[in-house]
Amino acid sequence: MSPVPRGALIVVEGLDRAGKSTQCEKLCRWLEQEGRRVKHMRFPNRSTPIGKSIDSYLRGETQQEDHVIHLLFSANRWEAAPQIIEHIRSGTTVVIDRYYYSGAVYSAAKKNPNLTLEWAIQPEIGLPKPDLCIFLDISSTDAAARSGFGGERYETSEMQKRVRNLFQELLQKPQNKEMVAVNAGDSMEEVHETMRRLGNKLFEGEGLSKPLKSFDY
Ligand code: TMP
Ligand code: MG
Repeated sequence: MSPVPRGALIVVEGLDRAGKSTQCEKLCRWLEQEGRRVKHMRFPNRSTPIGKSIDSYLRGETQQEDHVIHLLFSANRWEAAPQIIEHIRSGTTVVIDRYYYSGAVYSAAKKNPNLTLEWAIQPEIGLPKPDLCIFLDISSTDAAARSGFGGERYETSEMQKRVRNLFQELLQKPQNKEMVAVNAGDSMEEVHETMRRLGNKLFEGEGLSKPLKSFDY
């Protein structure tokens, strides 16, 4: 009996208002229509005890030292890692809205001199590495034209600008070859079509015949 082919690990990243939630939904529906088993996840997962502390921090109800909140975001991924690995092993494709890329860039964007991108990426080493990371790229002008920011921490244009530059920095790094930028200023359908094309390329390629990798930096 041949073993079950593994699922794919697909991450969707981007600034707030880039359209991640909508595009993750559409991607999952399409994958299901293609006959694939799909699990949709998102980080932060606000439902766990760690996620609840993150949630109250983001709403401005509690304060956390920059390194502490950074490590909580990372721990929130680590607590889900066994589940992600098990889904992939059993043939389910996992689509995640934000992952360690957000983890690194949002913290590094705070301009805390002791919290560089290099430092921020370290606790993520060893997490399941995505087969594909789609970065929904939106200019600050396009972003500003969409509906306004919510009330959460980090939702300021100054912060988002720095976050975007740091995402670009991650895109340039040779260890992040799975990252692909998609113009999120295009229409919802155009973006979805591009994402389907990237999905097809992934499923038709050789990558998924190899074991899931761990993130190394
Ligand atoms: P959300 O808007 O996707 O729910 O994410 C909440 C905020 O948390 C968003 O501004 C990005 C930020 N964030 C981090 O700072 N670190 C992380 O590891 C993740 C996943 C999100
Ligand atoms: Mg948000």
